[in-house]
Amino acid sequence: MSRNITRSIVTILALVMVVTSLYGCGPAATPAPAQPAATSAPAKPAATSAPAQPAGGKVKVGLSFSDFATERWKNEQVLMEKLLKDKGYDVVWQEANHDVKLQNDQIDNMVTQGVKALIVIAEDGAAAVTAVDKAAKAGVKVIAYDRLIKSPNIAAYISFNNTEVGRQEALGVVKALNMEGGKWTTANPVKLMKMGGSPTDNNAILVRQGQDEVLKPYIDKGTIKVVADQWVDNWDPANALKIMENVLTAQNNKIDAVVASNDGTALGALQALKAQKLAGVVPISGQDATADGCNSIVKGEQTVSVYKDIRLLSPLAVDLVDKLLKGQTDPNLKKYTMAELTNDPKNAGDVMAYFLPVVQVTKDNVYDLIVKSKFQPYDDVYRDIPADKRPAKP
Ligand code: BGC
Repeated sequence: MSRNITRSIVTILALVMVVTSLYGCGPAATPAPAQPAATSAPAKPAATSAPAQPAGGKVKVGLSFSDFATERWKNEQVLMEKLLKDKGYDVVWQEANHDVKLQNDQIDNMVTQGVKALIVIAEDGAAAVTAVDKAAKAGVKVIAYDRLIKSPNIAAYISFNNTEVGRQEALGVVKALNMEGGKWTTANPVKLMKMGGSPTDNNAILVRQGQDEVLKPYIDKGTIKVVADQWVDNWDPANALKIMENVLTAQNNKIDAVVASNDGTALGALQALKAQKLAGVVPISGQDATADGCNSIVKGEQTVSVYKDIRLLSPLAVDLVDKLLKGQTDPNLKKYTMAELTNDPKNAGDVMAYFLPVVQVTKDNVYDLIVKSKFQPYDDVYRDIPADKRPAKP
């Protein structure tokens, strides 16, 4: 889904909010969502003053987002809100602009407003436990969406196969390096940078685990040498850019490959690589198959992304909410230990979870996989590509 679409949706939502607040005639049972620009929103939970759910009114479901900086989250908010409303639920949502405390306040706040279920994309899987445990104690069904929350009190965790995401990222980079081609030897190893995601996001840990699995044999053999290993706070592209600049300076630009963990951070790193004329020379990975990431792939700059179809994950979350609120369960959910999900034996308890498959994206399959399936619009993927160099519009 394109940023343009997202932007128009944000604009429409903002207009609706202005109109609703001007005339005070919004649908009674559907409080206006939190301001999309929660960026500057004060921690003071505006919704505490919202009227309690009227007797016989619709059941309310809350959505809590870590941020809207990464392309996918706004799209998922719009999609889940629609799907929930189609099923007859009222929806409230909040976005925490990477602020861990604000996210907990917003969750508390939605519980006060009477939500019966919460879908949470946690900024910090450990910090969110405080608010989520309170919610669960109040009888609210909490679904950890895409990112694990380290509480056995969540009703379920649904995500993609995050370890596989990491494997596919590293495999894409390794393939581009042509490790078997003879150029890379123990005397001339690949100088590799590992760029992890946000250290407070369990997905970043799982992704790293998958990357390491693929890289280990080469590192053990000595044909790949890790010259830099960093994590990017908040998955922020601006942080990634700075980190990459520093690494390039420290290594005298002698970097042969970057295993980055998502498209946003890969594109940040690519800016630094571009400034040193290394874009398109140094293989680099990402995930999400974002519009910009795919565009970078067709331009030959980003090497590989990983497609995770959010159009499947969001309905899954909504169906699960619906089932849980009707006292049913989902046969797809399987029991996992918190220890195995976090790669940390200290974490106790079990979680019911379900994981969707992921697919590697490169310039060879981006058209079939991403454009034809309408995951990203043709015009976004082929932005700046001359008409005679583009494939036919599907
Ligand atoms: C998600 C990625 C996303 C990243 C940054 C991760 O938890 O799995 O899809 O790119 O967060 O928002």
